[in-house]
Amino acid sequence: MKHFTVTFIPDNIQVQVTAGTTVLEAAQKAGLPLKSTCGGAGTCGRCIIKVRRGEVQVKGGHLPAKLKEEGYTLACQTIIQGDVAIEIPAESLLSKHQVLLQDKGRLQDGLTDLLGSYPLEAACEVVTLHLAEPTLTENTSDTSRLLTALRKEKGVEGQVSLALLQDLPESLRQAGWQVDVTLARADNRLLRVTPAGSGRNFGLAIDLGTTTVVVSLLDLRNGRRIGQGGSYNRQAVYGDDVISRIIHATSNHGGLEELRQAALATINEISNSLLANHGINQAEVTAAVIAGNTTMSHLLLGVNPKYIRLQPYIPAATEWPALTAGEIGLAINPLATVQVFPSVASYVGGDIVAGALFTRIAGGEELTLFIDIGTNGEMVLGNKDWLISCACSAGPAFEGSGITCGMRAMEGAVEGVTIDPETFEVELEVIGGGRPAGLCGSGLIDCLAKLRRAGIIDRTGNFHEVATPRLRLTDEGYEFVLAWAAESSHGKDIVITAADIKNLIRSKGAVFAGIQSLLKTVSLELEAVDRIIIAGGFGNYLHVPNAVEIGLLPDLPAEKYVFAGNTSLKGAELALLSRPAWQEALELGHKMTYLELSAGNLFMEEFVSALFLPHTQLELFPSVT
Ligand code: FES
Repeated sequence: MKHFTVTFIPDNIQVQVTAGTTVLEAAQKAGLPLKSTCGGAGTCGRCIIKVRRGEVQVKGGHLPAKLKEEGYTLACQTIIQGDVAIEIPAESLLSKHQVLLQDKGRLQDGLTDLLGSYPLEAACEVVTLHLAEPTLTENTSDTSRLLTALRKEKGVEGQVSLALLQDLPESLRQAGWQVDVTLARADNRLLRVTPAGSGRNFGLAIDLGTTTVVVSLLDLRNGRRIGQGGSYNRQAVYGDDVISRIIHATSNHGGLEELRQAALATINEISNSLLANHGINQAEVTAAVIAGNTTMSHLLLGVNPKYIRLQPYIPAATEWPALTAGEIGLAINPLATVQVFPSVASYVGGDIVAGALFTRIAGGEELTLFIDIGTNGEMVLGNKDWLISCACSAGPAFEGSGITCGMRAMEGAVEGVTIDPETFEVELEVIGGGRPAGLCGSGLIDCLAKLRRAGIIDRTGNFHEVATPRLRLTDEGYEFVLAWAAESSHGKDIVITAADIKNLIRSKGAVFAGIQSLLKTVSLELEAVDRIIIAGGFGNYLHVPNAVEIGLLPDLPAEKYVFAGNTSLKGAELALLSRPAWQEALELGHKMTYLELSAGNLFMEEFVSALFLPHTQLELFPSVT
C-alpha cells in the first residue's frame, strides 16, 4: 500500500499515512486533534482546513459557499492521495492547553476540604518488613518468608501474583532482606517489593470526561496532590457526544477498540507527562481511581456500549470488577489496583456518583439539588434518606457545540455580554482579556438574557425588528452581530442567530424541565431545596442571575447556590485517598433511584412549558421582570 507524507502547517508536523486516509484521521495521528462535532459525518462544519499543496479528493460535506470560495475544505471529507501540505486554522484545532484545570474560584465553594471526616486510608499502603536471611536450617521459600513477616507485622494474609513472584528472589536479595512492600488494602495483594526506605507510593485520580480528561497525581502516603494535567479526550475525532461515540464503536469494525485506545492514549499521555515532570517512575504508581460517565467507562474497558443507546437504555454493567492497570493498559505499575466508579444508569454515570460523594449530598438532612451541565444535563436530588437522579438531553449548546459562534470556556471566549437598550451597542467580556473568538456557555446565557432585556428578542426567542445594523437578515434567518470582523481574533463577525437562540432555549428548557420532573416525582416544590450545587467547568464563569433570567436555573436566593468545580475529579481523589469514601461511593450507586424521563409525559409537559424566556409560568420566576 502506498504511503504519503502529510505536513501540517504552521507547525510543520509530519506524519505518514496510507492512501485513502482523511485529513481528519491524519491530524489525529499527528497529535493535532481537530474539532469534529459530527464525528466526521461532514455535517458540523467544524473541521475546516486548507490544502496548501498536493493531491486530495474532496467528497463534499456541508461547508458554507463563502468558505469554499476561500479555498477551505472539511478535513473529514478530504481524502489524501499524495504528499500534501495542510494548513489548520487555529479555530479548527482542539488545543490541550485550553483544558481548564483549575476552578476559577470566583465564587465561594465552601467545599475545599477534600477528606473532611473521612480518614486518610489510601487504596494501597507501604509496609516495611525486616526478613531474616535464609540459612541451611531455616530454609523456607522466599514467598513464605515474606508472607510470614507480613502476617507478623500487619496480621494479614498477603496474596502474591505470578508477575511479582517472577522477580521476587532478586528483589529480596538485592534489598538485603530489608524491604518495603506495597500492599493493596482491598485484597492484600502485594504490588511491589523494593529496598526498605525506597517504597514511594503514588496514585492517579482520573476524570474521564466525554470532552476532556483530567488526571491528578497524589502521594498516597500523605494525601498531598502533586500535580494535575488535562487534555482533550482523543475520542473527540469520533464525535462530540456519547451517542456518536457509541455509533462509531458499534457500527464500525474495530471501532470499539479505536475508542478504547483513544481514551487510554489520552490518559497515558497526561500521566506520563505528570510523572516525568515530578521524577516519578510508572512502577511507583500503584493505584488509580477513574470516574467517567457510563459510556466512557464502557469504552475505556472495551465493553460493548450498544444497548446504552437503544430503548430501554440498558448498560452492560453499573458496577465494575476490581481491575489492574495491566489488564486495561494504563501506563503505571501493571499490578496497580484500578477502581472505576459505579454508575446509576445509562445516563447517570460514575462521574455523577463521584460528584455526589465529594459534595456529601447524602451526608445530612438538607435537601440538595446537584446539577452537572455538560454535554448532557445530569442531576440528583435528595439528602441522607433518599436520592433520585435523572439525565436530560440538554444537548451540548452550553458547551458551545451546535452554536454558530460557540466555543468552550477558554481564552478568547466571550463570558459576559452587555447590550445598550437604546443604541444596541455591545460590550463583551472576554476570558483572558484579548479579542473575542466566540461565545462559551456563560457568554451565551448572558447574551440571551441581555438580548431579551434590550428588547431585541421576545419571550419566545424571536427577533424584534430593531433599528441597528447589528441585526441582519441572511438566507438562514435573522442574526445579531456581537462583534464585527475587525474586532474579533479571527477576522470574522461573531454572531448569534435565530437558530442558535432556539437551540439554547431548548437546552435550558430541558435542564429546567429535568429539575421540575425530579421535584414533582417526589411531590416537592422548588422552595424546599436548601442548596443547589453546580458541578463542572460550566459553573466557573456562570452568572446565576442571568441563568435564572433565561429560566435555566430556579429562581432561588443566590446564597443557596454553591459552585463545586470538577466534582468528578474531586470525588475520584477522595475515593483514592480513603477506602471508607470508596465504600460510600459503592453504596451511593445503589442508593440513587433513577428517573427515566422518557418513560412518561411529565418531562415532555415540563419541557414544553419551559420553552419560553424564562418560562410560561412566570410565577416560577418572581424576580424576573
Ligand atoms: Fe468534519 Fe464535522 S464536518 S467533523
